[in-house]
Amino acid sequence: MLFILHADHEQNCSTNAVRSVGSSRVDPYSAVSAGVGALFGPLHGGANEAVLRMLRRIGSKENIPAFIEGVKNGNEKLMGFGHRVYKNFDPRATIIKKACDDVFEVTGVNPLLAIARELEKIALEDEYFIKRKLYPNVDFYSGLIYEAFQFPPEMFTVLFAIGRTPGWLAQWSELIRDKDQKIARPKQIYTGERQLTFVPASERWA
Ligand code: CMC
Repeated sequence: MLFILHADHEQNCSTNAVRSVGSSRVDPYSAVSAGVGALFGPLHGGANEAVLRMLRRIGSKENIPAFIEGVKNGNEKLMGFGHRVYKNFDPRATIIKKACDDVFEVTGVNPLLAIARELEKIALEDEYFIKRKLYPNVDFYSGLIYEAFQFPPEMFTVLFAIGRTPGWLAQWSELIRDKDQKIARPKQIYTGERQLTFVPASERWA
């Protein structure tokens, strides 16, 4: 179920990386490794690992209000919340939240789940998150499930990538068969200074 929920869709960061690198006609392993690299980032698939670290740091329900204040003050992000496209809710999060109950019924409850649930409740009622349309995403609960399966956190992106790889390869395959596709080259428009004064390197830190 997690592999299906983590399946590739649309031009997200890692899929775009696969297509961009694949457009150089490199082999599919190299193109997919570019996708894995992009996926590992904490704003993308690496978020589930970051959520676990965040929940451990919060430590107990009493510390949630102070943590939320820090997020609202811009000190850090609430990991596992927000999405580039899903601005009302992430349909995958709804399914994963329910799956948590099924998994923990078998494995025993992870104490971090209680913190995650309380954190979600408080955030969903808070004006900051309501105004910005920030809801739990697929990664808010997926790390807790992977941990319940006793996968080490370093494996989380690997597991995510397994779900993504069929889609990435379909993207790569479509790309190399498409006669109209050319090597990726986003257009760059320079908007910086036109007239700059040159300062010799030896004088720059004087
Ligand atoms: N916690 C606190 N504030 C946030 C968060 C968050 N998680 N996400 C966005 N915001 C704020 C952001 O600071 C901005 O506030 P302001 O308008 O005051 O400057 C506003 O919400 C809009 O943010 P944005 O950066 O324009 O949103 P985005 O659509 O570009 O970013 C995101 C999407 C997923 C990168 C971002 O929500 C985020 O960093 N979330 C936390 C990381 C995370 O959970 N990533 C997993 C995404 S789902 C899995 C996947 O990608 O594969």
